[in-house]
Amino acid sequence: MKALVLSGGKGTRLRPLTHTMAKQLVPVACKPILGYVMDHISEAGIRDVGIIISPETGEEVKRYIGTGKRWALKVRYILQPEPLGLAHAVKTAEDFLGDDDFVMYLGDNLLSYGIKEARKRFEKERPDALIYLKEVDNPGQFGVAELKRDGSIKRLIEKPAEPPSNLALVGVYIFSKRIHEAISRIRPSRRGELEITDAIQELIDMGYPVKSEILDGWWLDTGKKDDLLQANSIVLDEYIVRSIKGRVDRRSEVTGRVDIEKGARVVNSRIRGPVKIGKKAVIENSFVGPYTSIGEAVVIKDSVIEHSVILDGSHIIGIERLEDSLIGRSATVMKNSSQHKAYRLMIGDDTIVEV
Ligand code: DAU
Repeated sequence: MKALVLSGGKGTRLRPLTHTMAKQLVPVACKPILGYVMDHISEAGIRDVGIIISPETGEEVKRYIGTGKRWALKVRYILQPEPLGLAHAVKTAEDFLGDDDFVMYLGDNLLSYGIKEARKRFEKERPDALIYLKEVDNPGQFGVAELKRDGSIKRLIEKPAEPPSNLALVGVYIFSKRIHEAISRIRPSRRGELEITDAIQELIDMGYPVKSEILDGWWLDTGKKDDLLQANSIVLDEYIVRSIKGRVDRRSEVTGRVDIEKGARVVNSRIRGPVKIGKKAVIENSFVGPYTSIGEAVVIKDSVIEHSVILDGSHIIGIERLEDSLIGRSATVMKNSSQHKAYRLMIGDDTIVEV
């Protein structure tokens, strides 16, 4: 079995971060989402991975993944010139995939359990597609499945205006070679994309076996700010163990599950876990509260932060309380100490500032 990871696309929902970085590389608990995807593929015993990249963000993705050796994977990069849909991505990868079964993993999806069990079930039962479903509050933003009484799939629809159920398609699929035939028979959707959802529906219409399972672990599509903060909280909650490799001075107090990486410094501050602090970060005269991830070389001074994700190289200075925030790379948020009660801002495109 091979793996196909989709790491192209546009990333419009995570702007402004995605003006300058691939959405699959946005970190959750200081590790790019794509890193978790690669972990899961490797744990499932798959070795050959094709990674779909776009002309805009492909180089950055390549810099992070490299040869794939870190995960004991053999990686082939496949350039998709335009983001014409998930099924179009599969078409672009036809040479790499050949006649092999493959797992298709969307590079911005995070799953609790990985895909080991899914692979086992596919290889035992040998359907032509195995898909995963999860109940969501907003099914209209996903592919949606309608099931028959016996639990088999009645139909699949991509982002329906009136969803027939609250069962969304999770961004992990396992296919046999028959999916190529189904893709060759579908046409672009109203949004102009070749939808994988339509291709799976086509498999069903052609009479091939498609199996589904309701996912019992958590699943997060990290497309928007709040999803990303939620993903960060869940991952910190589940995976962070106390590990203090950085320096904590005697005036500081570190409680709970806090992971402080090498070269980081905590000076006269309080940290309450779960929190992750990246390499060379400096926390001074501050409080860092639960569910916060602080990237490499971030500086936090005279501030209080909680439930936030701060990306590499940013500075937070003199902020009384920062909550539920997502701060991009090398950004500065600082209090202006002059009496003048004005905001002075220099912010990027598509930014949201709540004051
Ligand atoms: O997250 C699950 C959902 O993913 C499913 O419920 C939907 O049925 C499925 O269509 C997909 O919907 P999204 O609208 O969320 O897909 P998005 O455009 O965000 O793309 C998913 C990933 O695939 C993302 O990492 C970017 C990549 N991609 C996307 C397109 C359209 C590509 O590599 N090439 C593409 O052409």
